[in-house]
Amino acid sequence: MNHICSVATVQFAPVFDEIAQNFQQIESLIRDLDDDIVILPELCTTGYSFLNSKEVEGLALTANEFADFLGDYSVKNNNVIIAGFAEKDEDRFYNSTIALMPDKSYIVYRKTHLFYKEKYCFSYGDTGFFVFNHPNRNCRIGMMICYDWRFPESARTLALKGADIITCSANLVTPYWETGMKSRALENNVYVAVSNRYGSESRLLPDGTMQTLTFTGKSAIYDNHGITLQQAAINGDSIIRAAIDTNISRNKSFDELDDIFNDRRPTFYMNE
Ligand code: ACM
Repeated sequence: MNHICSVATVQFAPVFDEIAQNFQQIESLIRDLDDDIVILPELCTTGYSFLNSKEVEGLALTANEFADFLGDYSVKNNNVIIAGFAEKDEDRFYNSTIALMPDKSYIVYRKTHLFYKEKYCFSYGDTGFFVFNHPNRNCRIGMMICYDWRFPESARTLALKGADIITCSANLVTPYWETGMKSRALENNVYVAVSNRYGSESRLLPDGTMQTLTFTGKSAIYDNHGITLQQAAINGDSIIRAAIDTNISRNKSFDELDDIFNDRRPTFYMNE
């Protein structure tokens, strides 16, 4: 199978509490994208600024429902679509991404590290970090979501499990992530693709004050050295794309003596 894999990230500005409108926007953006991997932002069906789990309950979808919606595009374009959504599973809610395959099967990652008021709204993810094979390309994919980037263990786990590319569906609100994502790529010799949203959301809080979150756009695809291959602007709908070569991500040595995985000394690392 081909070691070259085309990747696209889709940046847009979901509107909080407007599922129908967000679905329409997602459809219009992904309808004709035939890149091998298409990545959408975190919580792209609902917007971000939930205040409590009651609000999530009204907008969450089961993975099946979300797969039904996205499934036809994966089939039509013969690709893997990764997208963030508020997931309902019985009486629990998760901040999740779905990875949908062209045969309509799917796999779900549930966010491990919950950020800010997500802690009031979602259950902590119980899937852990895992890697799966692209069905048509010789490419292994690992997913993380937004704040997971702050924990190098997330990317390290995915890389040790064999990821060639780490996808990060995001609603990023601080400016520091670019440094972090580049480092995650470099220290693991993997590609990293960040699909971020832009725009802002304001919510009136029970105490009468206004909460405004501004999202930082600049979706990016980084190579195995952390070099930026493509990057979107801070604002605006944008699709960026790059080709990745998994022969490169699988070769962890950078000269005849040094190999960043073989040279690890786990005996001396913390085992919490
Ligand atoms: C974040 O995890 N949405 C910052």
